[in-house]
Amino acid sequence: MKTLSLRRPDDWHLHLRDGAVLQAVIGDTSRHFGRAIIMPNLVPPVVTTDDARAYRDRILAAVPQGDRFEPLMTLYLTEHTDPDDVEEGRKSGLIAAVKLYPAGATTNSHGGVRDLDKAMPVLERMAKIGLPLCVHGEVTTPEVDIFDREAVFIEEKLEVIRRRLPELKVTMEHVTTKDGVDYILAADRNLAGTITTHHLIINRNAILVGGIRPHYYCLPVAKREHHRQALRKAATSGDPRFFLGTDSAPHVDPLKECACGCAGIYTSINTMSCLAHVFEEENALERLEAFASLNGPAWYGLAASEEIMVLERQAEPVSYPAKRDTDAGPITVFDPMFPLFWQVR
Ligand code: DOR
Ligand code: ZN
Repeated sequence: MKTLSLRRPDDWHLHLRDGAVLQAVIGDTSRHFGRAIIMPNLVPPVVTTDDARAYRDRILAAVPQGDRFEPLMTLYLTEHTDPDDVEEGRKSGLIAAVKLYPAGATTNSHGGVRDLDKAMPVLERMAKIGLPLCVHGEVTTPEVDIFDREAVFIEEKLEVIRRRLPELKVTMEHVTTKDGVDYILAADRNLAGTITTHHLIINRNAILVGGIRPHYYCLPVAKREHHRQALRKAATSGDPRFFLGTDSAPHVDPLKECACGCAGIYTSINTMSCLAHVFEEENALERLEAFASLNGPAWYGLAASEEIMVLERQAEPVSYPAKRDTDAGPITVFDPMFPLFWQVR
């Protein structure tokens, strides 16, 4: 049997939610991943260090017994965020990054940033203390086509932030375009990007061909095929500026399958199987470890895991549950639309 050993991976962009959903989904991450950067877009959002500490405690209380998992907490940047609180959170070792949601860009982002000038004092402090900024890189301008929002954000916002604060470390989250990949490649320092599992697998046809398929809808929305190809090339290149952030984003089915469905794809269960499949297709299995286990910790100034994960290629397709049941309702699991053969031992 073909096997692949790698350091235990981490997930550098994850939504765990709270309450019943947190209880049901946390094990799907802690089974495979040692650490994850936890997104702060709860209702209400995680805006202060005290909020983050309380949320971390709820996460740790939900981790199944026997699993070792470290949540790396983020703060939700607002126009009123206190730079001293951010610095204190960083110094105490609790806060790993601050997340910028342009107001209105995605799920629970209405409390995000409208006017970047108002967030400048926090960003300046972060640059000074070396705390990374995680960015949801889409403009929200109604006139901008949704498929162009990432490219326009890079030009109109990200470039402005980076010129004003060249010392600020920026993680461009869930890059979905060739424009994003090229922008990261052109930067000589302080810029990296996460790539999701699903954006390596689907293009926009998955959402729209043959009927509207809400379980393939996420933000940033999947783009044209040539963008997917650029993401695959970046992810499998071994370049340290690209690493895994699944953006696994559970929503219960009634909130997806309705007239105005939520954005988000739930991939925590089968991400490693999907990634091994993609890297094998790209003849890059030996670079999966860099993408999933090495580049992320290096960017965040942490050591790679000392633990080893073994993936085995089975002769028959591996099966996964189609749904993750929760006390709040079922969550549909990402279906890559091809059989998966790689399984975590
Ligand atoms: O698809 C997404 N889901 N994209 C985001 O930016 C947010 C996330 C969520 O929280 O559901
Ligand atoms: Zn996200």
